[in-house]
Amino acid sequence: MNRFYITTPIYYVNAEPHIGHAYTTIVADVLNRFHKMMGSRTFFLTGTDEHGDKIAQAARASGISPKTYADRISGLFRQTWPKLSVENDKFIRTTDAEHIKTVQYVLQKVYDSGEIYFSTYKGLYCVGCERFYTERELVDGKCPDHDKPPVEREEANYFFRMSKYQDWLIEHLESNPECIRPERYRNEVLAFLRDPLEDLCISRPAERLDWGIPLPFDSNYVTYVWFDALLNYVSALGYPDGELYREFWPVAQHLIAKDILKPHGIYWPAMLKAAGIPMYRHLNVHGYWKSDEGKMSKSHGTVVRPLELASVYGTEAFRYFLLREMVFGLDANFSKEALVSRINADLANDLGNLFSRTLAMTERYFEGEIPPFASEPDAMDRELLGKVENAISQFREEIPALGFHKALMAIWECIGAANRYIDHVAPWNLAKDAGLLPRLQTVMRTLLEVNRTVGVLISPFMPETSSKMLERLGVEKQAAESGLAENRFRGGLVEGTKVFKGESLFPRVETEDKKAGKKQEKPGPDAPKAEIGKKPEDTNASPIDIDLFRQVDLRIGLITKAEKVPKSEKLVKLIVDIGEQRQIVAGIAKTYSPEDLVGKQVVVVANLKPAKLMGIESRGMILAVRDGSDLKLIVPEAKTTPGGKIS
Ligand code: ME8
Repeated sequence: MNRFYITTPIYYVNAEPHIGHAYTTIVADVLNRFHKMMGSRTFFLTGTDEHGDKIAQAARASGISPKTYADRISGLFRQTWPKLSVENDKFIRTTDAEHIKTVQYVLQKVYDSGEIYFSTYKGLYCVGCERFYTERELVDGKCPDHDKPPVEREEANYFFRMSKYQDWLIEHLESNPECIRPERYRNEVLAFLRDPLEDLCISRPAERLDWGIPLPFDSNYVTYVWFDALLNYVSALGYPDGELYREFWPVAQHLIAKDILKPHGIYWPAMLKAAGIPMYRHLNVHGYWKSDEGKMSKSHGTVVRPLELASVYGTEAFRYFLLREMVFGLDANFSKEALVSRINADLANDLGNLFSRTLAMTERYFEGEIPPFASEPDAMDRELLGKVENAISQFREEIPALGFHKALMAIWECIGAANRYIDHVAPWNLAKDAGLLPRLQTVMRTLLEVNRTVGVLISPFMPETSSKMLERLGVEKQAAESGLAENRFRGGLVEGTKVFKGESLFPRVETEDKKAGKKQEKPGPDAPKAEIGKKPEDTNASPIDIDLFRQVDLRIGLITKAEKVPKSEKLVKLIVDIGEQRQIVAGIAKTYSPEDLVGKQVVVVANLKPAKLMGIESRGMILAVRDGSDLKLIVPEAKTTPGGKIS
């Protein structure tokens, strides 16, 4: 049986949980749920880091003992995770007796092998980071994380011979390119390693700092923060003798943000090597959540509290947003507007609508009973099933490779395709003709199976929504997952089972526009969906990544028919060949007459949500540029095959 072990950093108890902590922990939860779903035995560890100067100082400022202080904040972290649907197997505290025992065991072992020595050190020390800095690491003479100059400090202390492991570590990272992911962070660690490594100070005199773990070989000293904290990853498994250690350590994966890359990419491997513990398998490193382009910080008042967001917008939507919005490894900006726009566009409109339309029609046409596949699938059915199979394989490939946004994009492509399929096939028309019953059955069964697959694929991200969907489809989770293991779309539903539509999965969140009383069209239950979430024009819009651009399906179209829309000055109704015939309503009638347009090649946004303009359905958009009062169509430079994809 496959095994999977994932850890988050253990968070300092000097601050309450914020969106950054929530992101790491939710990513770990998504990975853990995914691997469990794929049949692995899994172990998921999180916890709190409770010793050290910073915490002792914060406790003093609150007028309580460090332990009471740590209990309180650690409790806040522990209570936060279940509220965000995080299911960790263990919550470790560095004040736990078993952890302390393991730390002392490892210290003694490394000391006995001669890898820890006593010496005097003078250097530049950042109290915030609780470590000495080299001149080169400072930015404008300041700690890059705390933006404060370090203080000079001289101390006799114990040191770990970290420098000895430099060559081994370079060799390990070079021969295991996947060890630190994404690659940019592996390169960053290799760049650190181009300079000679210094030995690591691992102790503090107990007279100055008694809020730590005493060194087993000198009780006048306590261990310094990283030698304590990093060992949580093995102490939680009962190292050295624990069964869990034997089972899960060989597949260990850590998840951190880039702020603690150096301790995890350099100190920890050296410590493991010195203690005779095998190296971890992966260090997965993500970027920062920023607010207004700055790293979140309490002092700037930019801390985003996860529980507040989850209680206003829902845990499921919050989880989806975090995983969809951040490209793993890069920084992302948080804004409530972006969150609301994802909820309304992706969750309420795309997913919620697909589910409610499908179930409403099943209730209407088949009294809620799942129909059989009653006819052979046609080309359109096959195209939709192709998208489903693609979503399944992307899900299986991208999640373990940390491409969460890509997995979600593939799932949403399939949701979009299913919504377009409904608009195209128009089941309400099939229902009018008894002779078309087998086709209607096949169409609805196909749609129900697509909803089932989507319900399964979203489960690591939105476990409650997934359960709700599968329950309403009358299917057990295990049966629903059939076909997942071999990337195949298969019918997992049982003919004749009753489905129920229930309340909408994601109610729309009112936007400022709506509150201000601006008119918004409300689509009927089966109507094509109106375009929403349109953003204002902005030449300084924030840059998008290439994946976002790739979501826009741009095609070459050939206009085969054009006629003016009655009672409209601007609108013209077109039939455009983009490999299939599309009806598109365009606002270009003031510049182009219908005769001018027929035979012209244009650029079409093919995956735009259908909309109704003056009551006429439009399925796509033609690109044009405004030049003064003129409007000019964007055309290919030479004749091109209709349907050609623009990239
Ligand atoms: O460093 N964006 O604890 P910590 C994304 N105790 N993630 C963020 C973030 C942000 N703006 N801010 C914090 C410590 N995080 C040590 C770790 S491990 C043996 C000891 C997340 O409370 C991210 O996971 O400062 C980051 O690595 C971690 O919180 C730092 O948590």
